[in-house]
Amino acid sequence: MTDILLLGQVLWFDGDPLAEAWQRVCRHSSRGGVLLREGRILATGEADALRRDHPQAEVTDYGDALILPGFVDAHMHYPQTGMIASWGKRLIDWLNSYTFPEEMRFGDPAYARAQADVTLELALANGTTTLASFCTIHPESVTAFFEAAEARGMGVVAGKTCMDRNAPEGLRDTPQSAHDASKALLEAWHRRGRATYAITPRFSPTSTPEQLEAMGALWAAHPDCLMQTHLSEQTDEIAWVRDLFPSARDYLDTYEQHGLLGERGLYGHAIHLEPREIDRLAETGAAVVHCPTSNTFIGSGLFDMEGLKARGIPVGLATDTGGGSSFSMLRTMAAAYEIGQLRGTPLHPSQLLWLATEGSARALHMGGQIGTLTPGAHADLCILDLASTPAIAQRSTRAEDIWEAVFPTIMMGDDRAVREVWLSGQRVSRA
Ligand code: GUN
Ligand code: ZN
Repeated sequence: MTDILLLGQVLWFDGDPLAEAWQRVCRHSSRGGVLLREGRILATGEADALRRDHPQAEVTDYGDALILPGFVDAHMHYPQTGMIASWGKRLIDWLNSYTFPEEMRFGDPAYARAQADVTLELALANGTTTLASFCTIHPESVTAFFEAAEARGMGVVAGKTCMDRNAPEGLRDTPQSAHDASKALLEAWHRRGRATYAITPRFSPTSTPEQLEAMGALWAAHPDCLMQTHLSEQTDEIAWVRDLFPSARDYLDTYEQHGLLGERGLYGHAIHLEPREIDRLAETGAAVVHCPTSNTFIGSGLFDMEGLKARGIPVGLATDTGGGSSFSMLRTMAAAYEIGQLRGTPLHPSQLLWLATEGSARALHMGGQIGTLTPGAHADLCILDLASTPAIAQRSTRAEDIWEAVFPTIMMGDDRAVREVWLSGQRVSRA
């Protein structure tokens, strides 16, 4: 197999720009390159040196376009693609009015596969190469998503969403059936090719303590799996959790009491946290996932990036489609910036780009494998055109450094900015 050399502007990181001074850990080459061999990254650096050292490599020159790792969307719901941008409700009413009726349809494997295909094509068109998705209670919905990802060579995370109360007839399983179906699915899919299984209790309000216990036991028996759920998204949700679990110290404790708090746990939203919850997340090494377009769209609140990062809690970034209002991680970064502004702590473009790539990858325990241009990582790449629309182009021509050149695309860019995507060292052809 011949080596492939991609040339363009390149940005890469030697560390976490939210944990250390971003100036110290960011590397930029205005004439750089990324060398690919057998689906992996072999080297990243200056174009001239890579050309000289690898004269046989097949070259694709992207000019001034920016070569980045593919984006990593650390929390989304592929079954909600068909009802994204549904108007005017807050979380619980939004779930009952829009989400549950749509999720009811995923017992049909053909419908599930069609929605999985649409979602993955939209993700790739937006430069996203890995997604962590909730499915529905139907095992067919999980199989459909993993099969659609496998057909494209995409590394994804997914799991059967488990609910045994406070959901309509047709969308409820039981503690035993949730356990057994999840077990069968993880045995079929976890670490098959690039697939990762996440044990997926939807959130405490839709699971009995018995179901949470069964999920905790399954995770204890398969500790290499991830576990994904939701935590403290809206204040009325938290009040409901308090009523449903009177003996729990707080929302996180409803998971902790049942063996569902751990290092490989992923807690979506995590906005309205008690000090004890923050302490426990920090002590256990669990990750939280920031879903900014969802938090503004459903009216949930302002995530405390600075406070949680200061405690060393890993944070991923995510669209949360269809509570989120966009498939684009560019739009998601823009929303994260805006939420930072409203809190008085704006994120630097380097920090936004890191969160959308390596930050999410680390939250998913895939650091070094995806979301990075470091040698050995999968060659999943997103090539960004930094002048994709007239509005962006007129602004970026005045840029005096790479940050001024890329920030207009973060704030105003969409799928038109995605020039090309590579998956496991293969150029992705547009559907
Ligand atoms: N909490 C429980 N389920 C969901 C969901 O589907 N979307 C969002 N945003 N929050 C949830
Ligand atoms: Zn969600």
